[in-house]
Amino acid sequence: MKTSGGSDAAKRRAGESAAEAVSDGDVVGLGTGSTAAHAIRRLGDRVDSGLDVRGVATSFASRELAGDCGIPLLDLDEAVGPGAPGIDVAIDGADQVAAGGEGDEAEPGVGPLIKGGGAAHAREKLVDAAADRFLVVVDPSKEAPVLDRSVPVEVLPAGRSAVAEAVRAAGGEPTLRRAERKDGPVVTDNGNLVLDCAFGEIDDPDALATTLATTPGAVEHGIFVGLADEVHVGTETGVRVARR
Ligand code: A5P
Repeated sequence: MKTSGGSDAAKRRAGESAAEAVSDGDVVGLGTGSTAAHAIRRLGDRVDSGLDVRGVATSFASRELAGDCGIPLLDLDEAVGPGAPGIDVAIDGADQVAAGGEGDEAEPGVGPLIKGGGAAHAREKLVDAAADRFLVVVDPSKEAPVLDRSVPVEVLPAGRSAVAEAVRAAGGEPTLRRAERKDGPVVTDNGNLVLDCAFGEIDDPDALATTLATTPGAVEHGIFVGLADEVHVGTETGVRVARR
């Protein structure tokens, strides 16, 4: 599993804090990444102790881990729609959270996010947006006053060059994400490619999100605006929680 950011202990505190917010009977969106994995493992422990939940995975990786942890799973189509139970809560990591400050002493905020470091942001956005409550789990290295990380954009393979041109026209610099243990590009769970798009400081995430969302060939981008309800920031000593 891809890992990034701060210490594993801080990620574990964040993930476990959010897993404790899940109630008996909930349908839970299961995020992707090293921090969300701690939440999934903690939920698995709670299922072992009798908690009745069903998970909705956001990726091949989270489905596999949830299965290993004994969490019963629903497909998104079974969870959402007429007569379906809905998703009560989703727990997911982030690559960057616009917050009230930086580092261990910062006041956590519930600002826009950048996601997609694991190339799972298309399904993550589907599940996180469908949930009644979306809990973000991060360590302090993910907090920033203003979003400035590269924005992952999942693109149709045939649209790679056209989307790259549109990103340049919007002031960004796109880079095709390369696989680490395979020659060639990363291919997403949906069979698409990923452009990591550097825009520098993103002063208006909402406007950039709209631009990327309306670019033909762009399947989904990693800017999440107005979706998070809580941010659980694991630190070396505890957890800070910000609520909307
Ligand atoms: C997956 O595509 C991402 O959105 C992850 O949720 C994000 O990269 C955070 O991952 P870590 O918790 O491993 O940093």
